[in-house]
Amino acid sequence: MEVTPVVSVSGLSKRYGATWALRDVSLEIAPGEVLGLIGVNGAGKSTLIKILSGVTRPTGGEIRVDGTPVDLRDPLRAQEAGLQTVHQDIDAGVVSGADVAANLTLDALAPGRSGVFVSRDRTRAAARAIAEAARLDVPLDAPVESLPAGVRQQIVIARVLSRRPRVLILDEPTSALSAAEIRVLIAMVRRLAADGVAVLYVSHRLSEIQELCDRVAVLRDGAIRRVFATPVEGPRLVEAMLGGEVGALTHEVRDGGEPVLRATGLRTRPGAAPLDLTVRAGEVVGVTGLVGSGKTELLEQLYGARPLVSGALDLDGRPYRPRDPGAAAAAGVAFVAEEREAQAVLPGWSVRAHVTLPRLRDHSRIGLLSRRSESAAARRVIEVFGVRGPGPEAEIGALSGGNQQKVVVGRWLEGRCRLLLLDEPFRGVDVGARADIARRIRERAGALGVVIASSDPQEVLQVADRVIVLHDGVRTGEVSAADASADRLATLMAGGADEGGGT
Ligand SMILES: Nc1ncnc2c1ncn2[C@@H]1O[C@H](COP(=O)(O)OP(=O)(O)OP(=O)(O)O)[C@@H](O)[C@H]1O
Ligand SMILES: [Mg+2]
Repeated sequence: MEVTPVVSVSGLSKRYGATWALRDVSLEIAPGEVLGLIGVNGAGKSTLIKILSGVTRPTGGEIRVDGTPVDLRDPLRAQEAGLQTVHQDIDAGVVSGADVAANLTLDALAPGRSGVFVSRDRTRAAARAIAEAARLDVPLDAPVESLPAGVRQQIVIARVLSRRPRVLILDEPTSALSAAEIRVLIAMVRRLAADGVAVLYVSHRLSEIQELCDRVAVLRDGAIRRVFATPVEGPRLVEAMLGGEVGALTHEVRDGGEPVLRATGLRTRPGAAPLDLTVRAGEVVGVTGLVGSGKTELLEQLYGARPLVSGALDLDGRPYRPRDPGAAAAAGVAFVAEEREAQAVLPGWSVRAHVTLPRLRDHSRIGLLSRRSESAAARRVIEVFGVRGPGPEAEIGALSGGNQQKVVVGRWLEGRCRLLLLDEPFRGVDVGARADIARRIRERAGALGVVIASSDPQEVLQVADRVIVLHDGVRTGEVSAADASADRLATLMAGGADEGGGT
């Protein structure tokens, strides 16, 4: 017997100016099926999702739900048709200024939805039920903006799940989640699928896709190139995404030259055991550990964004004690923060302005900004990192999420600095671009010291020369990338002791 798909699209297209973000896309998802959607940055994944959630109107094509054509004119219409979406941009999904309870029950608060007076107690009771169902453990009265990105993402997911979706659409739902939180989400998606919900799942983490999905559709340049049934091997997925082979993800491990940064008696937080850290010119030092292990706390101290808990730093042999990020930048230390949307992307600003913002002085003559020098820098970042989109003058919001990330990371590799600190630089970046960014970081590292924090051991090994592992604020090991495996790092990340020595 033929099963009617819960949702099907045929001949869907979307044009933005000269760009066809989607071309003639046809797909269907059966009840209980998890369909993975993959593709490089800018392939059109979020565009498809925005159309299915009523955020964006297609240029052409048809969408059916249970075999009946629907017009998803606005998000409410899509929700009424049973299509529930977690978007890639987490912060578009939370209402800042409101607490967790209000954010979990947004539906109940929306004007015109219920018409009943909603009491504080009722909201909290509803919020508690939603949080429990999603196994979300967070104080209901906490302001959402005070919470880490991973928790905000879980709040949006919990709210969407509470709406009893018929079609659940997840756009990179795990990008800010820890390994344990990812397990919870995957289990939840499995349960919903077992109940007959159709799921569309977008992720750059291929292991997740392979584990969770029944079929995997590959978008390239806006068109569906392949649909695989699982099990399918990773390299075949990558090849279909890129339309060719990926460049090698391995590199030759280097020792580094003169110390750029020397830190002694540093602590991630008060009460944690002290650690010493030396970063040499020409080497890339990885810092890995689970979410909350102290990576960001460590980096922020090196950048003056957080007071030094203890110890002393020196930079190029001179004492270095940055009072604030401005002082760090003046001393030649650059920092790329973990949360792209919140801290680095200025809506309404052009790609060019984003590239040159950190070092306007380099592009100025007698106080006047040189548009030509700015544009040249922007074009270099676009070329070197393969930023796909409408060009340097485009508003940053016209770029896909991963391409925004390439701009934000790439701009720091442009100018002069001595020490570059990168917190989760590969978040939302596709495999091909990850290789490009890693290669470029290593090229630039010739003259400076680089520290990269990431909770993904595989990612760290792709770019670092040695890796420091943190667990619960404490260093549990330090290994050379030459003889480390992702498994060994995972053991250390879980708190296991390191048998080898460190520096
Ligand atoms: N508002 C917009 N204006 C102009 N172009 C846009 C707009 N939104 C998306 N695009 C373009 O459409 C294409 C597809 O973008 P989309 O966001 O769907 O990619 P994606 O596959 O989700 O990528 P990522 O993995 O980076 O999130 C890109 O070339 C992008 O620059
Ligand atoms: Mg996207």
